Amino acid sequence: MQRKTIIAGNWKMNLLPAQAKELTTTLVKNNQKKENLEIILFPQLPLLEQIVTLTSDSFIQVGSQNSSHQNEGAFTGDTSPRLIHKIGCTYTLVGHSERRQFFKETEDLIIQKTQKAIDSNLIPMICIGETLQERESGNFQEVIKNQISSIYKNIPETIYQSLVFAYEPIWAIGTGKSASSKEAEDMHQFIRSSIQAFSNENIASKTSLLYGGSVKPENSSELLQQNNIDGLLVGGASLKIELFQKIIDSYSSKR
Ligand code: PGA
Repeated sequence: MQRKTIIAGNWKMNLLPAQAKELTTTLVKNNQKKENLEIILFPQLPLLEQIVTLTSDSFIQVGSQNSSHQNEGAFTGDTSPRLIHKIGCTYTLVGHSERRQFFKETEDLIIQKTQKAIDSNLIPMICIGETLQERESGNFQEVIKNQISSIYKNIPETIYQSLVFAYEPIWAIGTGKSASSKEAEDMHQFIRSSIQAFSNENIASKTSLLYGGSVKPENSSELLQQNNIDGLLVGGASLKIELFQKIIDSYSSKR
């Protein structure tokens, strides 16, 4: 079963409109559609419409870094997934570790956001990962398994096929210290077998699993060569065109 390769840039709270425009137009110019490759950009919310317009004649997809657990109503400061879809986005990140850590997002909220994203025709890219303390204590597999089980136990089976996961060990995010390709593949294997345990073999084999955490041109090819790593979620290195383009080009090592 061949899953598509996804290379995604999470811009976080970076880039002003002119910088975002330059980066996006260069990406559009330099990347023709390739079979089985998907590129996704996750800009800040006020830039979404601009980036959707700039990518409209390309195969580059756009997603939001966050979306509300509700579609409308008195939720000051939140953004409706229905609106995000309406302006042309196809994805939303859900439960990024920075949202869990700095904005105290709970498993319960993450389940609601996942459900609402799907109701609004957005593909939720659910971020999971363990802290350094959890990794060092040795029970990190349990932590990841609980994050996965909380999703599958609380959403209807009909939407299992619509989920994408990004495994991002928190100790590797923005630290320059990436998981080795062996560590990442071991975890991806574990994640896929956990998904199988909570759903079934068919779902597990079709679900895209991305790796994130200090991805750079130096490690992207080796990560992508691993059987269970279907793509990369790139933070810092997605802000620099020359670095992000090299990471996109390492897609060829997947073949
Ligand atoms: P990083 O961020 O590549 O800067 O480590 C990844 C992420 O948080 O998605």
